[in-house]
Amino acid sequence: MNLKEQINTDKLPNHLAIIMDGNGRWAKQQGFLRVIGHENGTKSVREVVEASAEIGIKHLTLYAFSTENWNRPKIEVQTLMKLLVKSLKKEIKTLQDNDIKLNAIGCLNDLPKKAKEELEEVIEKTKNNSRMILTLALSYGSREELINMVKKLSEKVKNNIISSDSIDESIINKHLYTQNLPDVDLLIRTSGEQRISNFLLWQIAYAELYFTSILWPDFKKHDLYTALIDYQNRERRFGKTSEQLS
Ligand code: IPE
Ligand code: IPE
Ligand code: MG
Repeated sequence: MNLKEQINTDKLPNHLAIIMDGNGRWAKQQGFLRVIGHENGTKSVREVVEASAEIGIKHLTLYAFSTENWNRPKIEVQTLMKLLVKSLKKEIKTLQDNDIKLNAIGCLNDLPKKAKEELEEVIEKTKNNSRMILTLALSYGSREELINMVKKLSEKVKNNIISSDSIDESIINKHLYTQNLPDVDLLIRTSGEQRISNFLLWQIAYAELYFTSILWPDFKKHDLYTALIDYQNRERRFGKTSEQLS
């Protein structure tokens, strides 16, 4: 039986999130500039997006650029932003062909004008697609998102729109960038690093974590299937005992 056939499509993660890491090291290993790693990383993005939609995943969130990544050399940041515009222009067809709706989270106002406009255009054009929601985390940092949420809520409390007593998980969820998304079920990080790097801290409270040493440009369909099979063999207890679940 091939890998894909081993996946139980009734037990897929409803929300899969991926920290796409290792582009720079991939390039270095082959003696290329880091930008070549990023370019090849976009091929993995296309493959994983298509494979996820095809298998039936409803929400896929990709960490593409963090708030901390602004601190990289200016030339690398500029290249990444150009690559974003180029990919959006090129991949609109992939999104339409696969009935995928594009969404974005993060401090989008910090993006260069061109990138923000292109992003908004693709979001608008794909808004009626419904097979899968693809969310790009761009200029995203979880702490920034949480600070932003606290500011919005405190304004509402101050203006008597809500009472502080009424604040619960669902109100917090509604004030995060991920407002319309369910909690993350499976978080994959490539490149061998075993850290979260400021990604979806609130949303991964009960996510299963999957770390692989594969560098992002080498991460392909079968690696996604391997991660999904691993996820399906885990017991998610949410604080309960194993006996309570069976
Ligand atoms: C991930 O690859 C892409 C971004 C963070 C934008 P890296 O660029 O972090 O690659 P490494 O970690 O240096 O290998
Ligand atoms: C996390 O990767 C951000 C993205 C994948 C976009 P980094 O390469 O920036 O993370 P650190 O610096 O290794 O923690
Ligand atoms: Mg990295």
